[in-house]
Amino acid sequence: PRHSRIAGTGSDLPPLRLTNNDLVDMLARRGVETSDDWIVERTGIRARHFVGDDVNASDLATAAALRALEAAGRTAADVDLIIVATSTPDMVFPSTASIVQRKLGVFGCAAFDVQAVCSGFIYALSVADAMVKAGSANCALVIGSEVFSRLLDFDDRTTCVLFGDGAGAVLLEASDTPGVVATKLHADGRHLEILCTPGTVNGGKVFGDPLLKMDGPAVFKLAVGVLGDVANEVLELAGRTTSDVDWLVPHQANIRIMQSTARKLKLPADRVVVTVDEHGNTSAASIPLALDVAIRSGQIQRGQRLLLEGVGGGFTWGAALVDY
Ligand code: ACO
Repeated sequence: PRHSRIAGTGSDLPPLRLTNNDLVDMLARRGVETSDDWIVERTGIRARHFVGDDVNASDLATAAALRALEAAGRTAADVDLIIVATSTPDMVFPSTASIVQRKLGVFGCAAFDVQAVCSGFIYALSVADAMVKAGSANCALVIGSEVFSRLLDFDDRTTCVLFGDGAGAVLLEASDTPGVVATKLHADGRHLEILCTPGTVNGGKVFGDPLLKMDGPAVFKLAVGVLGDVANEVLELAGRTTSDVDWLVPHQANIRIMQSTARKLKLPADRVVVTVDEHGNTSAASIPLALDVAIRSGQIQRGQRLLLEGVGGGFTWGAALVDY
């Protein structure tokens, strides 16, 4: 049987790094009060990176993709599928994936975006895995890239301290041996309002509010429940249990969501990859970013079993079990 496996990973962060105290100062100038202590204690976030006006999701995505190709010993010419998970595309259309293709200088292969907010990377990985297994792709770039700084309401302290910008990429290749073992996706449109950016473009103007809105406590409660359930579903599909998992690589939204999920799965805290302290919540980029950081630091090794999982606006959620 045909399998898909991770041949290489890469990531990119914009150079501007804001610590919590940088953000405290920036918000104080607008009359908005917050503190390093509050942010660290409630979220585990210590710093995040923000792009400037001249950098878009496609730029971060392209840099991450080039590093993933290099890690896999491939070039852009080998790629026959590009999927970008993003909720902050460069344009309404064409897709960010088409723009990445142009920046990579390769032409002709399939390229499209997937929009499932913070679950976007799990959705994109699941689609790419299915296409590789079906024989319609052999070498797929699966990228999560976001510039959430553009959606933040800096007068709303309950949301603007949580997010950052960045990109992560995985090169997924056809293989005789398993890599992506099982995936499972879900969505529940009843919960649209608890996490959304409701504005849209209409007649040359932005209609509705184009800034991020979140009911934090409602998201928290839903997230822990669904993440525990989908992890168990994907393990069951693969005939495995949590004791087979070497590393949980969760969406990096909030340290308390990650700890609660690990507890629910009876996974020790030291088996959870954590980068939210340095990146904040980078939405669809957070899982591949965390994965790349953990691989490059030597934390994750070849031969280990990974449980990736994400949850986000929609409400959407999903998990992937991967033999790395
Ligand atoms: N600085 C200081 N005080 C603040 C801040 C801030 N940045 N933000 C809120 N507060 C205050 C509130 O005003 C409130 O004050 P009050 O009690 O006087 O009214 C108090 O802190 C507590 O507010 P809550 O919203 O109840 O705080 P909570 O403990 O629930 O933490 C948080 C808020 C961190 C957002 C939490 O709800 C959470 O983690 N939710 C999960 C949502 C999440 O992580 N979303 C990420 C995006 S979703 C995703 O990626 C899946």
